Amino acid sequence: MEISKNSEISVTTKHDYDRASELKAFDETKDGVKGLVDASVTKIPRMFHHKFDKDSSSTSSSITKLDVPTIDLVDIHQDPTRRKIVVEQIREASEKWGFFQIVNHGIEVSVLDEMKNGVIRFYEQDSEVKRELYSREPLRPLVYNSNFDLYTSAAACWRDTFSCLMAPKSPKPEDLPSVCRDILLEYTKQVMKLGNVLFELLSEVLGLNPNYLNDMMRCDDGLAIACHYYPSCPEPELTLGAARHSDIDFITVLLQDHIGGLQVLHENNWVDVSPLPGALVINIGDLLQLITNDKFKSVEHRVVANHVGPRVSVASFFRSFQPSTRLYGPIKELVSEDNPPMYKETTVQDYVEFSMARGFDGITSSLPYFKIGNF
Ligand code: OGA
Ligand code: NI
Repeated sequence: MEISKNSEISVTTKHDYDRASELKAFDETKDGVKGLVDASVTKIPRMFHHKFDKDSSSTSSSITKLDVPTIDLVDIHQDPTRRKIVVEQIREASEKWGFFQIVNHGIEVSVLDEMKNGVIRFYEQDSEVKRELYSREPLRPLVYNSNFDLYTSAAACWRDTFSCLMAPKSPKPEDLPSVCRDILLEYTKQVMKLGNVLFELLSEVLGLNPNYLNDMMRCDDGLAIACHYYPSCPEPELTLGAARHSDIDFITVLLQDHIGGLQVLHENNWVDVSPLPGALVINIGDLLQLITNDKFKSVEHRVVANHVGPRVSVASFFRSFQPSTRLYGPIKELVSEDNPPMYKETTVQDYVEFSMARGFDGITSSLPYFKIGNF
């Protein structure tokens, strides 16, 4: 299988400046993008410059006033009629958008607010404290750095991130930052519960037993939480907060603040996911598209940079993060002679490693590489 790998060498040779040294110097400050903003830069370093073609500028190119669907989960546990309506709304959103927002999802606004505040508290700690945590070693209980793909992407993004693997086993409390330890554990508990409800509803959309997806993942589950910090940007039109990508998981639950900037690709337009107080953004990941044989869509999205900031967001990724031999392919109950399986079976790890090796920048998902008959 031949794939073009976004290696450091091929990236550095494309530039007329010493990109490798610039990246290394930036990484070695261990202060992330926030460090640049704290130092009051008025021009963003070249390593952050993205190339934009005409129809994918750094700003919203959406001319339509479309917005991703918002679905109200009120009463779905008490009222079967409401539940049916919601299942239909989720069907439509998962097939057409790959994204939807949910309200009345059961997580209190106070928990959401405290989670966002916890993220801000983490980044506002002394640089000395944060530098101790800055690393690119994936096995640490908490990984904090700027641009996980700094050395492989074509251009860096205006964003810092810390992430933790919270399930199947959460880190020891002392391994979590004291400024957001309690809320991380509480938010995890509640997001896991919500994940269960969402997998139930998605199973119903597929006409399967409500426990189907939860049972499928019971012995191979996991949850990683990434807390992003997008500092204000002096030249937002030159860069991005997050380059276009699809998520490499089953579903993602995203908590965003009031600033905005998240956009999804819908019918070839970038459409804003407008911040809605108390809402959570749900999106279908590549693995759910694979097991539903393309019924649900894993849609590309990105975050534009902004003069206003910082913006914070918390992404909860549902998939296993440990090696497992468990194979995933199109769900047997969903395929038939008229709808034959389109994908080969794969382990989660093989799919993830393959996608990571390809790099993220400006590249669509790895799903085509797993189609039967390809390669
Ligand atoms: C992600 C992501 C969007 C955001 O973490 O995969 O798409 O708004 N985040 O931070
Ligand atoms: Ni994403």
